[in-house]
Amino acid sequence: MTTQDELRPTLTTEAGAPVADNQNTETAGIGGPALIQDQTLFEKLAHFNRERIPERVVHARGAAAYGTFTLTADVSAYTRAAFLSEVGKQTETFLRFSTVAGNLGSADAVRDPRGWALKFYTEEGNYDLVGNNTPVFFIKDAIKFPDFIHTQKRDPYTGSQEADNVWDFWGLSPESTHQVTWLFGDRGIPASYRHMNGYGSHTYQWQNEAGEYFWVKYHFKTDQGIKNLPVDEANKLAGEDPDSHQRDLRTSIENGDFPTWTVQVQIMPAADAANYRFNPFDLTKVWPHADYPPIEIGKLELNRNPDNVFAEVEQSIFSPGHFVPGIGPSPDKMLQGRLFAYADAHRYRVGINADHLPVNRPHATEARTNSRDGHLYDGRHGRSKNYEPNSFGGAVETGRPLWAAVPVNGLTGNHEAPSHSEDNDFVQAGNLYRLFSEDEKARLIANLSGFIAKVSADREDIVERAINNFRQADADYGQRLEDAVRELRKQK
Ligand code: HEM
Repeated sequence: MTTQDELRPTLTTEAGAPVADNQNTETAGIGGPALIQDQTLFEKLAHFNRERIPERVVHARGAAAYGTFTLTADVSAYTRAAFLSEVGKQTETFLRFSTVAGNLGSADAVRDPRGWALKFYTEEGNYDLVGNNTPVFFIKDAIKFPDFIHTQKRDPYTGSQEADNVWDFWGLSPESTHQVTWLFGDRGIPASYRHMNGYGSHTYQWQNEAGEYFWVKYHFKTDQGIKNLPVDEANKLAGEDPDSHQRDLRTSIENGDFPTWTVQVQIMPAADAANYRFNPFDLTKVWPHADYPPIEIGKLELNRNPDNVFAEVEQSIFSPGHFVPGIGPSPDKMLQGRLFAYADAHRYRVGINADHLPVNRPHATEARTNSRDGHLYDGRHGRSKNYEPNSFGGAVETGRPLWAAVPVNGLTGNHEAPSHSEDNDFVQAGNLYRLFSEDEKARLIANLSGFIAKVSADREDIVERAINNFRQADADYGQRLEDAVRELRKQK
């Protein structure tokens, strides 16, 4: 035995007893069957069988890093959030990037929106902003989300993603035209997580100390510059190096090349919302910058890799319902559904004590609740009372809501989202198309037509409905797409 070997600690069982042999199972005689008394073998095999937890039902594939948010502008006129109270103030953050449709082991370099889940560990609790790299989304009502995702995932019969299902749903959901135009454009396959923007996407509420409130949209503009992958390169990379984005993020941080984003907000006074030309709570629409110019408020830097991917990335949880005083939800029907869905997913996927894992718990304050026990409870509350009101000096409520109450009107019912003067499902998709250069338009048509052409030969109706949405966004867009799809389907 060398000196180095002598210094090594003893391998033990989970209960801490020394392991005598980690190479040979105990058997009845030489070459005989294994013995039940080999508890080291059984413990190892049993633990191994339970290594996986359910992957996220969407956004299963991702990578994350810790960082710092620095406030660079005075926004106290708009929000009383403590972490946004003083220019120069820094807040620890954790940002998980992801793709949406692929499973945990899928490739990074694919055409798909990228998730942007950002946790601010503030002194008033954790604030999570769970967005994407796109400012809009495919649908505008949470009740359609499971159906939408079913079309992106595997067909119940074939076990594969099917062009029939994808285009059937999009064709029948014209509100998707804007996001689909975005996704099949150049930005649909980012070169890395560092070379893309992030967006809060939804409209959120900010409330100031005086109680006034505002509607806000967040933008994170990459300081590395936008870089995208051409389709052929992406396809090759996805096959050769499925972990390309994950590795790029980790190694750039290891090398001290810390990625940064400039943080901006668009702010709408509450009184503007009712008569704004677009429904400001419709997630399929942006607020054109000419209407509400983005204001720079901070810098986000990623500067530390997680040490343990399972503990810190797989078990990390982000919820659009994690707000802090001075920040709250808007009536966006997608956001309202998400306020339920995430915490529910966390309880199922990670467990009832997920909030208390090191990556998820508050870092700049502590959680003080009367909720207790459950799977893998660590006894952190010691002897303290577990009810309220109590006269034993336990934690008490503040009496002040985190965000402002908003007026509502009308009767309960399954209402469609209100339509404002310039709202329709196509106007912003058409505007985006017309913004593209001629080259970008050509690539967009090639990307879309290649996929639409895969719809089954006997389902021409699906193709027609899909193309009709693009035609309504812009006549040239529709015509070019129709020509390209017809040509491809002729060749089949
Ligand atoms: C009503 C619509 C939606 C529902 C019901 C929904 C539901 C979910 C669920 C259940 C998860 C998995 C959570 C987990 O297991 O930890 C998830 C993940 C995620 N969703 Fe959504 N989602 C919706 C829309 C959106 C939108 C509009 C965005 C972006 C603007 C978004 C961004 C994300 C991100 C980034 C993640 C990954 C979070 C992480 O890194 O852990 N989702 N979503």
